Amino acid sequence: MLRVGVVTLFPEMFDLYSDWGISARAVDRKLVHLSVFNPRDHARDTHRSVDDRPYGGGPGMVMMFEPVRASIREARQALPGARVHLLTPQGRRLAQADIQSLARLESLVLLAGRYEGLDERLIEAEVDEEWSIGDYVLSGGELACLVLLDAMTRLLPGALGDGESAQAESFMDGLLDYPHYTRPETVDGRRVPEVLLSGNHGAIRRWRLKQALGRTWQRRPDLLEQRPLSAEETGLLEEFIKEHTAAQS
Ligand code: ADE
Repeated sequence: MLRVGVVTLFPEMFDLYSDWGISARAVDRKLVHLSVFNPRDHARDTHRSVDDRPYGGGPGMVMMFEPVRASIREARQALPGARVHLLTPQGRRLAQADIQSLARLESLVLLAGRYEGLDERLIEAEVDEEWSIGDYVLSGGELACLVLLDAMTRLLPGALGDGESAQAESFMDGLLDYPHYTRPETVDGRRVPEVLLSGNHGAIRRWRLKQALGRTWQRRPDLLEQRPLSAEETGLLEEFIKEHTAAQS
């Protein structure tokens, strides 16, 4: 079982994880256990403050050292050996390969930053890794934690209904996904590609691989640059490119 501790000022946001969909089922199946730690529980003054004005001036508030450290320590005690991962736009950009490594851990602590940030000394003293989910700024790390948790959870053995799907899908082997269809066969004059109705599993596999390669070539050529192609894949991509450029002229 994967044990995750989350340090956050907004514990209720993690009900989204525990109460809905595949992650809720993974919690029920005891594939993962989430515990939430709130720095506010360690606030010392009568206002239960967890943030304060930045030294040097400027807008916004900074999360204070003491209550956040106490909360991280509480999480570390509950999850011995766990490393602390801060979600922040300053972090390394998360990729599927990172999610795969994280999903193999026994335990980890996620730290959701809020406001203008954390007191830098907290990062120096307590944070082991910093991750960003993309080059945009959220109002806090909670949604980023939820994104990371969701992506990890679906990789846990037994989390998905069909054990195959995590393997076959997008990015699993560095390509975008192929297109999917379900009934009816024709909708507004648009037909399902004939090969998918053929029952020829070899032809279907090749068609899907070709579409995945072609889409990646069209939409994310950067991914193709990082991925060696087999002889079959090279041939399928060449076919796709030929068909695509022929269709254009
Ligand atoms: N917190 C705010 N923005 C973020 C981002 N893009 N990734 C991770 N954590 C964040």
